[in-house]
Amino acid sequence: MTQTFHIVGLTGSLRKASMNKTLLKNAALFLPENFTYTYADLGDLPLYNQDLEEDLPESVKQFAELCSSADGILISTPEYNGLITGVLKNALDWVSRKNIGAPLGTKPVAIMGATTGPGGTARAQTNLRQLLFALDMDSVNRPELKLSQAHMKFDDEGRLSDFGTLQVLQQLVDKFVQKVEKSKA
Ligand SMILES: Cc1cc2nc3c(=O)[nH]c(=O)nc-3n(C[C@H](O)[C@H](O)[C@H](O)COP(=O)(O)O)c2cc1C
Repeated sequence: MTQTFHIVGLTGSLRKASMNKTLLKNAALFLPENFTYTYADLGDLPLYNQDLEEDLPESVKQFAELCSSADGILISTPEYNGLITGVLKNALDWVSRKNIGAPLGTKPVAIMGATTGPGGTARAQTNLRQLLFALDMDSVNRPELKLSQAHMKFDDEGRLSDFGTLQVLQQLVDKFVQKVEKSKA
């Protein structure tokens, strides 16, 4: 029987029309048929507060369960003032906690990012790699997907219309898939 894998997608943007969320959707299209994909909405998570660990909010429990169910994590990060957003940092801080089972563990993770600016979230991705290193997650290092001027690179249906970016995205997802499969072999 074919083994199945579950992927969870995270972004640090809460915007309805988030380009990072759209980029993740495009990434999910490259996952093989035996992979399922769930997008995690981080908007309901409270700001991290150790006092809340005594009686965990429902939103934190649900997010922890979702991360626990994941065989791999895909992250698309916006860049705010040269760093990842508070939303993403807050979410990763929550699920890094041993008190809630540290559900990210050392799972495979692949990152990317989209911005309207020219830098393609390079600074935020460096920042995110530091954080994933601190969490001891198993990051895909190459290729790097830095989507600059992203508002010009999707069609009206939200499909990536930039051929070069699509090629890099496919390579990134292929390497991520290999890592996920290897981690469960
Ligand atoms: C507070 C704030 C700071 C920002 N700082 C940067 C930045 O340092 N570099 C950059 O490329 N874009 C920056 N941007 C632009 C965001 O990358 C852009 O809004 C992008 O669309 C956010 O991703 P989203 O479409 O997924 O929401 C900033 C936006 C905001 C709101």
